[in-house]
Amino acid sequence: MKHNHSKIAEKHDDLALLGGNPVRTKDFRSEPMIDDQEISLVAELMRKNRFSKFVGSPMESTREDLKKKSVDLLSEEDGFSFLGGEYVRKFEAEWSRLIGADYAVSVNSATSGLTTALRALDLEPGSEVITTPFTFTATAASIVLANCVPVFCDIDPETFCLSPAALEKLINRNTCCVMPVHWCGNAGDLDEILAICNKHGLKVVEDAAQSPLTYYNGKSLGTFGDVGVFSFNEPKNIMTGEGGIIVTDDQRIAEKCRLIRNHGEAIITDEDSDDYLINTVGYNFRLTEIHAAIAYMQLKKSKKLNSIRANNYKHLKKNVEEKLGEYLTPQRITHPESYFAYTAAFRWDSAKSGVHRDIIAQAMISEGIPLFKGYHRLVCDHPMFKRKLAFGVNHHPWHEGYYSGNVDYNALPLPNARHLVDNDFIGFLLMGWPNTTDDIDHIILAFEKVIHNLERLRDLTLKGDIKFSLGR
Ligand SMILES: Cc1ncc(COP(=O)(O)O)c(C=O)c1O
Repeated sequence: MKHNHSKIAEKHDDLALLGGNPVRTKDFRSEPMIDDQEISLVAELMRKNRFSKFVGSPMESTREDLKKKSVDLLSEEDGFSFLGGEYVRKFEAEWSRLIGADYAVSVNSATSGLTTALRALDLEPGSEVITTPFTFTATAASIVLANCVPVFCDIDPETFCLSPAALEKLINRNTCCVMPVHWCGNAGDLDEILAICNKHGLKVVEDAAQSPLTYYNGKSLGTFGDVGVFSFNEPKNIMTGEGGIIVTDDQRIAEKCRLIRNHGEAIITDEDSDDYLINTVGYNFRLTEIHAAIAYMQLKKSKKLNSIRANNYKHLKKNVEEKLGEYLTPQRITHPESYFAYTAAFRWDSAKSGVHRDIIAQAMISEGIPLFKGYHRLVCDHPMFKRKLAFGVNHHPWHEGYYSGNVDYNALPLPNARHLVDNDFIGFLLMGWPNTTDDIDHIILAFEKVIHNLERLRDLTLKGDIKFSLGR
């Protein structure tokens, strides 16, 4: 592939890594879009002392309300309730409408949401839940927090999501549930995953933390499984600082989630069945009125925020494919659009280029382009898993009193996930506001410059003049 590098070479004949001028000196990041609407609403709530309207004890209508769909729970009242205040309910109703799910239960993070969702499925301690090792730690930690045993499945090298073929091989009599992660807002081969789960009668919890308002086959991600969970922490498309939401069409799951979110055991009466009590012991995972109000206002601009991301990403992808495609390949997204902050995910072919991804990353960062290399290790390689030490010294929940399987985290090959994390993954958290395609051009220009100097980087690496480390 021939490039016209003369313009780049003239302007930046030396890589910033080697002492030349960087492509970009201006700060480069995506930011939350907060304006007077959020600020005045938060100020108003603070002036009225409306911080949280939750109470952790039953009130007159609590038992009926627990069963209601989110759109039927709207309340203009300024009173306290087991199901939260005006803005918690407004946000939940609006999210359920947008997503197309009957129930939306807000929580204070996706980590608490995933833990709650798994517990609400009434899985027995020691049940195996299959998920990906190429994810944020919270995916797997939530499985342990729900007293279950994570089993790690290799990914597809192109989608970076669960590999259906690898998944089917892992299913055994201890498997109860699958937790696909829509990595960088990508559903991957979700149809195949769902068909496998259906065939084996497995529950599905979608970790949709990274995929708000993203559609697969015309339906919102998060609504394909028994239950789905989104995150609203700061880098996400819609953000409240910290926050999350659980969605489901199943009234029973919604009811349990509402109980677990808010000290559920306090609501159960002597007349209730064991079934209702199981896994109901609660946390305080409640979202404050202030955070819910920010989220509610953010929803009003979600279309605008997503179109900025989509526009920037399309521009980057097109240019990468046209100009840089020899060594750089975009993640294969299995649906028309995805808007997640991390959507700009690529594979750098370290082997073919002869220059390791870590050197490319160093060179790009020196050019003023922030870049991330994925997570610093696969989740299954955490000491918690390798030593099976999470709660106490007796290896709960892997303890044989609960668990009859034999998962061993020290002997997991996972070739695709390992190759991606150790050698090839490159991503940018730069697609969101306030960046425009002019900013994205800096990424392209920097890549062109780095690739133009590939031979030099290769020689310096071979001579040992540039050091890189596997892992970070
Ligand atoms: C895939 C995935 N799952 C879960 C989480 C946890 O989200 P939170 O920070 O809202 O707890 C994240 C956070 O970024 C994530 O990326």
